[in-house]
Amino acid sequence: MSSYKLDLDGKSVELPIVVGTENEKGLDISNLRAETGYITLDNGYVNTGSCESQITFINGAKGILRYRGYPIEQLVEKSSFEEVSYLLYYGKRPNKSELEGFKAKIGEYSVVPKEIIKMIEAFPKDAHPMGMLATAVTALSGFYPEFVKSNLNDDEKNKALPLLMGAFKVISAAIYRHVSSGSMKLNSQSSLNYPEDFVSLMFDKSDEDVAKALDILLILHADHEQNCSASTVRMVGSSKANIFASIASGINALWGPLHGGANQAVIEMLDSIQADGGDYKKYIELAKDKSHPFRLMGFGHRVYKNFDPRAKLIKGSCDKVLAKLGVSDPVLDIAKGLEAEALKDPYFVERKLFPNVDFYSGIIYRALGIPTTMFTVMFALGRLPGWLTQWKEMIEGDSLKICRPRQIYTGETLRDFSDQ
Ligand code: CMC
Repeated sequence: MSSYKLDLDGKSVELPIVVGTENEKGLDISNLRAETGYITLDNGYVNTGSCESQITFINGAKGILRYRGYPIEQLVEKSSFEEVSYLLYYGKRPNKSELEGFKAKIGEYSVVPKEIIKMIEAFPKDAHPMGMLATAVTALSGFYPEFVKSNLNDDEKNKALPLLMGAFKVISAAIYRHVSSGSMKLNSQSSLNYPEDFVSLMFDKSDEDVAKALDILLILHADHEQNCSASTVRMVGSSKANIFASIASGINALWGPLHGGANQAVIEMLDSIQADGGDYKKYIELAKDKSHPFRLMGFGHRVYKNFDPRAKLIKGSCDKVLAKLGVSDPVLDIAKGLEAEALKDPYFVERKLFPNVDFYSGIIYRALGIPTTMFTVMFALGRLPGWLTQWKEMIEGDSLKICRPRQIYTGETLRDFSDQ
């Protein structure tokens, strides 16, 4: 391994250079403070690698996204959400019987204790579904005490993914039923695949087109390396908190409108532009005005600086899904107009701001009959395998350390409390 020699205040330190399998390069600064007294400062972790990982590869400049080496475009075309979840978590493609066994295990866990359903029903109907989801997932810890420890054995770790996927599906459907005042009769059917069963749990009937569209959305959301919620899961899990606590923390991080909550914020933005007469150019100007807090939701990304491959795939399927379901959504034209206008505007071009995964997903969710406040729950349903995989990789790593960043203190220096 080569290294970089850094001289600071007359002291020098050799910083090992770490090179990934895709030739990404990093400087290992873990000895920097001990050797020189310096730390590194990086607000928002814009340029900080928090781990080495074998799960997901992103090249933001080229718009590449791969799970375990497989391009997202191929996975969307040739795979299923269950297979992708297996691939992420167990690190290999399942053969036919492994996949069947995995689906059966998810089926076994697709029953949620009635107390958890009652807990969801205790929420006001206009409470946000993400709050209900995080609460219900934390509450699972009370019903699966054998999983409430960090040192799960291999068998328990193998069960953790089907357990949470099964429970998440039923909990999410129960939340949908609660907010839309439906009956709480939730009968999961093991003969159906994951998205079909979810659709049937929500609407009492399964629809092939809706389930197919959902399958694609779930695959596209399944993992995205060290994003805000995955990093939160890793951070919470690094304290050896259990899987329920760690995953619930990921749900809460995802809720924010700059992360997964953007899908809800996009549709609300498009609706309000429509209600305001549909003049999207006015909103482009507003987004550029630094004295105004408005941002174009669904635009921009920390990593993608050319295009978001997920957005490209979603946009492609948006027209198809709407046509197939016979739905026409007037905000689709506003979305396309906004995109076209922004892509030629120097403000967006210079800052490399493009539509992200959330820009068109809400239009599809709405066409599938899902209420706006449920959109981020749909994101969480897809992201669950990624979170758990990130947790497992961290907990199994041989250099597990509690995540504990440093700071540069800029507050008051020592003063005496007895002085006025
Ligand atoms: N509308 C207008 N200006 C923007 C936007 C936007 N959506 N996004 C970034 N900018 C500007 C920002 O004001 C800044 O300008 P300047 O250099 O003049 O100060 C520049 O572009 C860089 O932005 P940043 O905030 O420093 O970039 P970031 O990497 O910290 O933030 C982001 C990334 C996704 C939070 C941000 O682009 C944003 O707020 N987008 C809208 C929310 C959104 O759609 N989030 C979903 C992200 S994809 C789903 C997921 O995986 O989470």
